[in-house]
Amino acid sequence: MAENPATILAIETSCDETAAAIVKDGRFVLSNAVYTQILLHREYGGVVPELASRNHVQKLTYVVEQALREANMQLSDMDAIAVTYGPGLVGALLTGVTYAKSLAYAAGKPLIPVNHMEGHIAGNYISHPELEPPFLCLVVSGGHTQLAVVEDYGEYRLLGETRDDAAGEALDKIARVLGLPYPGGPALAELAKDGNPNAYTFPVSFKGESHLDFSFSGIKTAVINLLHTIEQKGGTYRRDDIAASFQKAIVDNLVRNTVRAFERERIRNVAVAGGVSANTLLRETLTAKLGKRAKLYFPQLAYCTDNAAMIGAAAYDGWVRKNFADYSLNADPSLDLPEKE
Ligand code: KG4
Ligand code: ZN
Repeated sequence: MAENPATILAIETSCDETAAAIVKDGRFVLSNAVYTQILLHREYGGVVPELASRNHVQKLTYVVEQALREANMQLSDMDAIAVTYGPGLVGALLTGVTYAKSLAYAAGKPLIPVNHMEGHIAGNYISHPELEPPFLCLVVSGGHTQLAVVEDYGEYRLLGETRDDAAGEALDKIARVLGLPYPGGPALAELAKDGNPNAYTFPVSFKGESHLDFSFSGIKTAVINLLHTIEQKGGTYRRDDIAASFQKAIVDNLVRNTVRAFERERIRNVAVAGGVSANTLLRETLTAKLGKRAKLYFPQLAYCTDNAAMIGAAAYDGWVRKNFADYSLNADPSLDLPEKE
């Protein structure tokens, strides 16, 4: 890949992290600055879009300066500016897109538009520079749950996706019901450590069906109904048992479809991407079920949740293909993974 060397400054503002990073040749992270707004949104139990946008505007310059400083580089050393333009919160995306356009214009650099979900997948290239397409990828974040074959750089074949909630969204929701702070996924995983994962059994979605789609809202509703029933009867429950059993139900669904996809596609390399790929139970269960048959790839924790290094990694393909945007680039809040024709 180093036939086309490129040092790219990447900007990410699709949700509640203001992030900038410098990445060389799509694989090597020279700096990775993230300003997280978690504490700001925690007070409200979830991301408040208006607050997210306002904070991105306030922090962008600082975060970009930090990325340059940490790499000991100047804007003039960059070959291109990359930015996430979707999917995500429209106002939040727009802050990054507008900032990146201005920076590209002022510095006279090409602008590379990046799909946030391709960014998550590309997080694996940073942690595993030897990884190349084709590979199977389970993409699990707060807004998405998808199984796709990465046929080539920038070319995907979607095998299945969620028909309702994303896995991270369901984890966040039940965490909130259990009184845990935002973001719920890691807090729920922590609580689950002391619980019994077999204390409760929740429904297996699409039992007996052979497609590769996901559904998590039924499991989520089952938990909420169970808690209501116990409370109505004046009973008690252990929060850690609920957390452990629910986490197991979500993970079992994710792993079942991933194993099925692997058996169908016969692609030896299997990667996981997105915020939920940080989850220990998911990593352990997938390793137990597939580790002997497939080569598994998980991003390092810093590249699981939102960051700009993964955007810089994904942008390298745009650089090689000269897929540059002009100044009419707009945010696309519901951007899909580009599918193979
Ligand atoms: O990819 P991401 O940072 O943002 C989106 O693009 O959505 O994913 C955020 C999601 C949240 O739902 C969060 O609760 C979940 O990833 N998450 C986790 C863990 N770390 C983050 N879920 C389970 N276990 C974790 N360790
Ligand atoms: Zn994300």
